[in-house]
Amino acid sequence: MHEVLVRYVHFLGIIILSSALVSEHILLSVDTSVKKFKRLVVIDAIFGISAILALTAGLLLWFVVGKPSGFYTHNWIFHIKLTVFALIALLSIYPTVFFIRNRNKTIEQVIVPKSVIVTIRAELTLLLFMPLFAVFMAHGFGLR
Ligand code: HEM
Repeated sequence: MHEVLVRYVHFLGIIILSSALVSEHILLSVDTSVKKFKRLVVIDAIFGISAILALTAGLLLWFVVGKPSGFYTHNWIFHIKLTVFALIALLSIYPTVFFIRNRNKTIEQVIVPKSVIVTIRAELTLLLFMPLFAVFMAHGFGLR
């Protein structure tokens, strides 16, 4: 029962995280209206919270409920999945810092550096591979 709930929370985190990232990708442009930018600040906070949710449920699945932790610890595909997640988290620092620094702007348009938009695209691209690693490792591929 607990495992089912933790799995549900893992998926919930993943779904919200993905939706937030796609929304950022769609809403963000080089010149973003202040109104849209304020919405983006909220979306980015939701992105952060959902990442924590997915991570916490992932850790519980790893160490507390479900299969024995060795099933994941000794799986190199699982370690790639963790590395990709860490990369996404690291990449997301740059846009988040930009959103926080500019959240109180009162001018009509916020000029967003192209590098922020490219970073969000890179995060999205990496995210595409996460379910692939997950389903492989869940079926025991990559187990040493
Ligand atoms: C956005 C990031 C993530 C995505 C898209 C993702 C995706 C998935 C998916 C689709 C599954 C179901 C696999 C299946 O049952 O076939 C899964 C399960 C799992 N995930 Fe994640 N995950 C993410 C982050 C994490 C993190 C950070 C951890 C570890 C700290 C983690 C640990 C696990 C574990 C232990 C399972 C259970 C696998 C099993 O059924 O044996 N996940 N994940």
